[in-house]
Amino acid sequence: TARVVVLASGAGSNLAALLAAHDDPAYGARVVAVVTDKPDAGALEHARTAGVACAVVEPQDFETREGWDRALAETVAVFHADYVVSAGFMRILGAGFLSVFGGRTLNTHPALLPSFPGAHGVRDALAYGVRVTGCTVHLIDAGVDTGPIVAQAVVAVEDGDDEATLHERIKTVERSLLVEWVGRVARGGLTVDGRRVVVGTPEG
Ligand code: GAR
Repeated sequence: TARVVVLASGAGSNLAALLAAHDDPAYGARVVAVVTDKPDAGALEHARTAGVACAVVEPQDFETREGWDRALAETVAVFHADYVVSAGFMRILGAGFLSVFGGRTLNTHPALLPSFPGAHGVRDALAYGVRVTGCTVHLIDAGVDTGPIVAQAVVAVEDGDDEATLHERIKTVERSLLVEWVGRVARGGLTVDGRRVVVGTPEG
């Protein structure tokens, strides 16, 4: 079973979905720790309820961005992570982190990348007037939401949508997409060919 460390800053509904899946040995992945940049993140509550280890690494405790980034990588490494999943982690992972966990760090984003990267994917899609948006699971690289795409799912924009209603519908789809693909990657591994990601099939 692959050891997964989840990075989260927010409510943690994506984390909760992973925690609901990980007790099944056939799932192939287990959340072994949750690491946050925010001591009041709702995600910590989900982790504690599930009996999963938590750690807080706050940028304000470090003099430089690089120092924080290194500490984050060291903290994740303590839990012997095979994979890292950024699920509502609202900070950019720097070169120090990616030199250790690059190629095995996934992010979930609430838009169809490469459209609407950044912190306001739902708001930006709505403001642009697209009629379909969705969510993306992708590998994290040095850019902002620019890494190779692992999986996507589509969500229609409804006439009466505001950011909150659209984000809620996206999140429903996003949770299942993330759970499905974290499991597939954990069971089968992944390779990258140019920009294209190939997720292996489980044996047996
Ligand atoms: C998710 O929709 C995730 O895609 C988004 O924050 C939400 C976190 O929800 N992330 C980003 O916008 C990153 N740029 P959660 O805390 O309930 O899992």
